[in-house]
Amino acid sequence: MLMQGPEPGARTPLDEIDLFDPVRFRTVPPHPIWHTLRAEAPVWRQARPGQPAFWNVTRYDDVVRIVKDTARYSSTHGNVLDVAEHGDSAGGLTMPLMDPPDHGQVRGPAIRTMSTQVVRRRSEGVRRRIRRLLEPALAGETVDFAQIMLHLPMLAVGEILGVPEEVWQDIPGWTMAGVAPQDPVYAQGSNERTLRRAHYQLFAMFSKLIAERRRAPKDDLISLLTQLEVNGRKFDDQQVLLNCYSMVMGANTTTPHVAGHLILALAENPDAWRMVLADPELVSGCVEEALRWATPTNHVMRRTTTDVEIDGVRIGEGEIVAAWIGSANRDESVFEDPYRFRPDRKPNPHLAFSLGAHYCIGGPAARSLLNVLVEELAATFSAFEIDGTVEHLASNFINGLTRLPIRPVLRHDAPVALAASGA
Ligand code: HEM
Repeated sequence: MLMQGPEPGARTPLDEIDLFDPVRFRTVPPHPIWHTLRAEAPVWRQARPGQPAFWNVTRYDDVVRIVKDTARYSSTHGNVLDVAEHGDSAGGLTMPLMDPPDHGQVRGPAIRTMSTQVVRRRSEGVRRRIRRLLEPALAGETVDFAQIMLHLPMLAVGEILGVPEEVWQDIPGWTMAGVAPQDPVYAQGSNERTLRRAHYQLFAMFSKLIAERRRAPKDDLISLLTQLEVNGRKFDDQQVLLNCYSMVMGANTTTPHVAGHLILALAENPDAWRMVLADPELVSGCVEEALRWATPTNHVMRRTTTDVEIDGVRIGEGEIVAAWIGSANRDESVFEDPYRFRPDRKPNPHLAFSLGAHYCIGGPAARSLLNVLVEELAATFSAFEIDGTVEHLASNFINGLTRLPIRPVLRHDAPVALAASGA
């Protein structure tokens, strides 16, 4: 989606707002829309002819209240607007689509495989892989960073999940098609056909790996899932498969777009990058600001389990609510100067990983990966220049880039030989 904020004094007429149509997110910037909604209609119902209406919640405090309240806002119907009408067929079966207390029985064991300590132990290996990934940019010519960054997540979590390295290169195409089947870069015919193909490829890969791990468990997440019990019953193959799917989707559809939006923001705002280059202490601040800035997960969807009231608006039981994290992360009552990319922003209580029971379990891995990436970018490039048309993903859920032509400017003291050797 396009990242600009509202023009001073501008508002979007409410009857022109459509926060559902995925294709609009390629060309219509949502920040001015969310700005209007936060000011005028923070709990706003979008009607859709022939389809269920849904509620849009855009203020920071309200989004926090919703994601923390799993009793009244359930995830079992699905957590993305695309499935609002029929519900997600994995509802109640995968970690993101379970409610407490069952949810904790999957999350507890799984989270240990991705703890900060586990991630820290792996970070030097990740650094070597990131250097290899950045090699195409070392010639100083224009490269498509959106495509390069798609390969980031597996460098950090491929082994943790248990996905063999020889298929890492295929994962971005399959996962992005699974989340944005209407995007021209990923569509292969109709929506249904694109989704069917993406699911088939991922399910075929995981089915084979699950059978292998049942025979010979390893130290990875697939093996852990094959041994998991919920309410005294072992996970069957379908539950293992769906949870593997949600993990690989969670990792691959989000992290690359933080990196892409970061590089785009630095190209548009060279002073911010000069600030980081002058003060390495700002690397982690730059990562946190990139997470706020990009907010790759625009919204999370919930369904009410009872009548609720938000900001004086009554919402009935069984209704669909979209909590717009992308909007919360620009809420001017929490973030000063929210439409400016500021690596020195402090505090930065962004909600990119959400909060509460479903707080992203890949958060430590993604954070560490992005910190290593920014360190490597800082050691290598003094600036980034946009050299062509930037294209945005067709998705109401993921704030992604599909094309980011950037000419990087190498630092005069860049460790080119070291980087190029992959050492
Ligand atoms: C910058 C990168 C990432 C962002 C911004 C992000 C964002 C999110 C958000 C907003 C949620 C909450 C979903 C909800 O409440 O419905 C979430 C949950 C989740 N994420 Fe991430 N994610 C990222 C990286 C990852 C990675 C690397 C993995 C896997 C290795 C992952 C796996 C998951 C899983 C399994 C959940 C569900 C947790 C639960 O329900 O308890 N994510 N993520």
